[in-house]
Amino acid sequence: MLAMNYRGPRRVRIDHRPMPEILHPQDAIVRVTRSCICGSDLHLYNGSVPDTRVGMTFGHEFTGVVEEVGADVRKLKVGDHVLVPFNIACGTCVFCQQELYGNCHESNPEATAVGGIYGYSHTAGGYNGGQAEYVRVPYADVGPAVIPPGMDPDDAVLLTDVVPTGYQAAEMAGIQPGDTVVVFGAGPVGIMAARCAWLFGAGRVIVIDHVEYRLEFARNYAPCEAYNFRSLGDPVVFIKKTTDWLGADVCIDAVGAEAAGSAMQTLLGRKLKLQGGSVTALHWAINSVKKGGILSIVGVYGPIGALVPMGNIVNKGITVRANQASVKRLLPRLIEHVQQGIIDPKALITHRLPLEEVADAYRMFSAKLDGCIKPVLIPPSASA
Ligand SMILES: NC(=O)c1ccc[n+]([C@@H]2O[C@H](COP(=O)([O-])OP(=O)(O)OC[C@H]3O[C@@H](n4cnc5c(N)ncnc54)[C@H](O)[C@@H]3O)[C@@H](O)[C@H]2O)c1
Ligand SMILES: [Zn+2]
Ligand SMILES: [Zn+2]
Repeated sequence: MLAMNYRGPRRVRIDHRPMPEILHPQDAIVRVTRSCICGSDLHLYNGSVPDTRVGMTFGHEFTGVVEEVGADVRKLKVGDHVLVPFNIACGTCVFCQQELYGNCHESNPEATAVGGIYGYSHTAGGYNGGQAEYVRVPYADVGPAVIPPGMDPDDAVLLTDVVPTGYQAAEMAGIQPGDTVVVFGAGPVGIMAARCAWLFGAGRVIVIDHVEYRLEFARNYAPCEAYNFRSLGDPVVFIKKTTDWLGADVCIDAVGAEAAGSAMQTLLGRKLKLQGGSVTALHWAINSVKKGGILSIVGVYGPIGALVPMGNIVNKGITVRANQASVKRLLPRLIEHVQQGIIDPKALITHRLPLEEVADAYRMFSAKLDGCIKPVLIPPSASA
């Protein structure tokens, strides 16, 4: 089969790889129909995530048709068209029972933090991902959800990560009616978080980035105010000024380890890799949220420590909430929102490319070229 093949930082290619096989009676094999590239893949692509092994296939946002099921699979049937949450979860461990599906204790024996994730380095279990024609799906009765009749697969594929992550970012932020919400990052996740902030009653939504076309997209889609931090001077001072010097009620970090905007953070976190990424957006979020405010973090950082202003968190009494999105927990609610037209996920898809062009897709998405918000890859076997 064809699959994306990671060859080292900023080098990916398409290759012929062995077909995945059922390795456990609860596995299924899925023929991929859509597969996205995520901002989280860029951390792998840039070599920021430890133990990302050469030869790995990335991809944790995919839909597909069930081709084969293991002997113990009860609910999923061959021929089902499913959307597959990016979290690999056993469904029965103590954390899954609390619906913390991103923190499953069984699917990633190598770590005590995150659970298994498709195509996300051996720190997340070492599972191959869905930027391929076929993928092995463990715990097949737990994660995959049959795409509801009538739902566009382009909407469905964004329910595997972007929609739940944006929604959970807003949910964790504990937004109260009328709150001023500042979202750092106008990637797909930040744009979706800004959109969802209104659903929780926000009174004002502000997005900060430095890529003009993304700011414009956020203004129209969320809709919201959107500002380029390169023209703001100090973004923290700007946010204070526009909130009567109190600070935002809520700040959301939808940027993570690749953050731009500080030469020192870029050097320490991205070039020398002495900390778990550049924490520039996190600094801005901590310093611009009001005293007693809430900071919601969905931006991904590496497992090692980072220089964050801890004293400001304590002295301002900030509540910090963070996690990988618990996709399965949120799916029923979000499927309803899509069906009712409250959220329009597929509007984020700006590019559709054949899987064979995966290297170009990474280049474009990473360098933010051609107005790219969200690229989706279509394998040649998608319509087989
Ligand atoms: N927690 C989860 O479950 C989860 C799920 C999906 C993605 N993520 C993470 O969310 C983050 C965003 O994902 P995405 O797909 O939107 O990525 P993306 O790379 O497309 O978007 C990130 C955006 O942040 C902007 N940016 C860079 N530095 C900034 C700064 N200092 N201030 C404000 N904006 C800045 C970039 O220009 C870019 O537009 C990533 O870290 C990703 O790993 C987390
Ligand atoms: Zn993702
Ligand atoms: Zn579990």
